[in-house]
Amino acid sequence: MQSLTIVTPDDWHLHFRDNEMLAETVPATARCFQRAIVMPNLVPPVVNAEMAMAYKSRIEAARPEGSTFEPLMTLFLTNTTTPQDIVDAKTAGVTACKLYPAGATTNSDAAVKGIKALYPVFQAMQEQGLLLLIHGEVTEHHIDIFDREKAFIDTHLSHIVDAFPDLKVVFEHITTADAAEFVSGANDKVGATITPQHLLLNRNDLLVGGVRPHNYCLPVLKRNTHQKALQDMVASGNPKFFLGTDSAPHAKHKKENACGCAGCYSAWSAIELYAEIFDQLGVIDKLEGFASLYGPDFYGLPRNTTTTTLIKEPWQVPDQVTLADGTDMVPFYAGQTLQWKLESAFQNA
Ligand code: NCD
Ligand code: ZN
Repeated sequence: MQSLTIVTPDDWHLHFRDNEMLAETVPATARCFQRAIVMPNLVPPVVNAEMAMAYKSRIEAARPEGSTFEPLMTLFLTNTTTPQDIVDAKTAGVTACKLYPAGATTNSDAAVKGIKALYPVFQAMQEQGLLLLIHGEVTEHHIDIFDREKAFIDTHLSHIVDAFPDLKVVFEHITTADAAEFVSGANDKVGATITPQHLLLNRNDLLVGGVRPHNYCLPVLKRNTHQKALQDMVASGNPKFFLGTDSAPHAKHKKENACGCAGCYSAWSAIELYAEIFDQLGVIDKLEGFASLYGPDFYGLPRNTTTTTLIKEPWQVPDQVTLADGTDMVPFYAGQTLQWKLESAFQNA
């Protein structure tokens, strides 16, 4: 039996949601990740240190017995965020801030309308050492949805990176060759997360043979040449690119809907999905760097000291999971077979 032991991984981009949903989502992630960057797009959004710390406590309370899983908290930037909010966030132990262009994705209506107006806030983040995490898509109606990431690089990201050379910036869930090239060519303060869906799938998997709502996420899946560029990047072992699942749970009836919402709930099989694609690419030896080393190195945090073992043994992702209140959810890759399985996690090295 083939097996692979790696330093325990972390998830650098994740949506837990809140309240009853936490009983499902927190154990699913704590199953294989030591830490996770927790996205702040709740309703209402997490906009200050006090809200972030209260949310952190709710997440910690939902951990399975004995789990040492650590949520790393983020603030949701709005046009009313102030430099003082950043100072307070740093003092409270917040790790990063998330920039959503208004209307870009789920629960982002409160987000930023004029990015330039936030430059004093970015300045404070640079001084305080908080990371800037960016959903990099423009939202102008006349820009084609498949071009929104590239347009964001040209209109905003290149200027932010130039104006704040010491600010650590993570271009989240990149989906295009343009984004991969931009990040690899930028200074070493610029990194990117890549999701399992953008490595495993392309837009054919969303649209050919019928619309597949469970493969719908934002940024939307792109053409196969972009998928290939992301695959090539992770296969190269470039340390600017690291694991961020963007696991984003939604009720089944909200996905299978005339106006289905965006997000793939991948936490159920997260590390296994990445193992699947790295193995398909013939670079399973590169999984550890991507999943466990480059993320903490980029964030300036210690690497995990425990190890995790995967074995090559086929298993099937469940068709559905049901919350305590009866809500059904369809996990990403539902009903499909994966070749790698988590055998044991958090082993003392
Ligand atoms: C995310 C969500 O549902 O919160 N959805 C998604 O498609 N990725 C939001 C986001 O990260 O864009
Ligand atoms: Zn996300």
